[in-house]
Formats: sequence, C-alpha cells, structure tokens
Amino acid sequence: MRINSRVVKEPGTKVEPERDRIEVRGRPIPGRSALRYLMMHKPVGFLTTLHDPEGRRTVRELMPPGPRMYPVGRLDADTSGLLLFTNDGELAHRLMHPRYGVMKTYRVVVDRVPDEGVIRRMRSGVQIEPGEMTAPAEVRMLGVRDGRAALEVKVHEGRYRQVRRMCEGLGLTVRRLQRVGYGPLRLARLPKGASRSLTAVEIRRLKATAARPGGTGPVLRPRGVRPGSRPSGVARPGRLAQRPARPGFARAARPVGRPRRNPAQAARRTGPKRRTH
Ligand code: URA
Repeated sequence: MRINSRVVKEPGTKVEPERDRIEVRGRPIPGRSALRYLMMHKPVGFLTTLHDPEGRRTVRELMPPGPRMYPVGRLDADTSGLLLFTNDGELAHRLMHPRYGVMKTYRVVVDRVPDEGVIRRMRSGVQIEPGEMTAPAEVRMLGVRDGRAALEVKVHEGRYRQVRRMCEGLGLTVRRLQRVGYGPLRLARLPKGASRSLTAVEIRRLKATAARPGGTGPVLRPRGVRPGSRPSGVARPGRLAQRPARPGFARAARPVGRPRRNPAQAARRTGPKRRTH
C-alpha cells in the first residue's frame, strides 16, 4: 500500500481521506470528497432542482463549478432568497427534518395591511387545508407603504408553499416573498444570483442548530455588521427593527403583540398534523 506515493507497511497507519492519496497494489482508493456548503441568493424565476425535463431555468445554472451539491429543501420558482446547497447528506437530512425544527425566516409583502387579529391567527397557526393547521409562527409587522404591508414570518416547518398558503388562508395576497434567514444564517447583502461558501463559523453554528431537536440556534451576524448591532431587520421579540426592512417601507409604528419564544416546542405540545415536502 502507498500513501501519497510512500510505501506503508505498518497496520493502523492513520490517513486523512479528504487529503491523502491511497493506493493498494497500484490502484487508487477513492477518497471521501470534501464536504462543501454553499449559500445562494436564488432569484425569482429559477426552479429549485438540478434538472428540469421541461428545460426551464434551474438553480444549477447559478451554481459555481466544483463537486456536485444538492439544494437543502426548496424555494418556489416565484420565491427569492437564501438557498443552501451541500454534499453533506447527514446535515442536509437534519436541516430538513421537522424534528430539528430549524427556523426559516421570510420577508413577505402582502396586498393589504393585516389587523392584529390576522397577525395573531398567523402566529397561533393557520388552517391551510381542511384539517391541516400550521404550527405557531413568529410574525411581526415590518412596515407599510401604499396600502401594502411587509411582514417578517419565521417558521420551523417546511410545508409546501407554507408562507403563501398561510397568507392566503387569512385572505392576504402575497406580492413578494423572500427567504432572508435559514437557522443562524442570514442572506444579508449577497447579490441576486450570487453564491458563496459558508464560513467555518457558519458551518459550525449550522451544525449546532441542527444538532438540537427544536433547536433555534444563535443568529449569526452578517458580514459587515458591527458587533453589538443587530442585523438589518432583526429585532428582539416584541421590539422594533432598528431600520426599515426594505427601502421605502415605513417602519411599523409599534410591534404587534409578542411572538412565542420557541414555536418548535409549542408545536410539539399541541401536536399539529404534519405534512412536509
Ligand atoms: N413558503 C412559501 O410559500 N414558498 C417558499 O418558497 C418557501 C416557503
């Protein structure tokens, strides 16, 4: 046997499968390919798949060259925002499994200003199909403009078109939907269509979040945001964001109610029927 061209005879010799080249009787042993983690800002109009038999545009076109990675969950074609890719099957499984309740954060613009009753119903759970209720969500008003409202909605489930169906179930038409956070990760200023590798800290935090059932790990500070300040649009529960979520949207005059602290745990207590995609 050779390790990096050096003949090795000692049993139990340690190797690093991602780095060392191992040959047995002149034949290379395929190593474990390095694990990769990527964040993409998916634009509207792209399908979350690596291949579309109908030839529509897919996120594959936007992926950088390199080892094959797979999307973690999906965003609708008409939804933009943070989409993760990895070849780490174990982590992808945990991130998508309802047991781990990883929080996904959305900004949604709806066609009218919902009153407190509607926001409360969104928080406590919405019937999106006969007999199908969503788990409690964190919802807060970000701002109002021209009769439209911008909301931040945090859900830990991954039901098909969940945020759109929650809004529709309450008589709100969605004009724009963007995922801005996935667990501790934030989209921040990543340009539309661009992608970047996660940093070592982000990978560690993501793994930590997915390691705890019902886990809502710490939110990471996006690049360029000073320690001590809050990322754009992220406020403590029940507090206003420090600045408007989007240019042009006036900040809400006051927060509407107080979201539950850990919707994943609340959901387990009430035990909603779950159907994930
Ligand atoms: N909820 C939706 O309605 N669509 C998405 O793409 C993600 C969450």
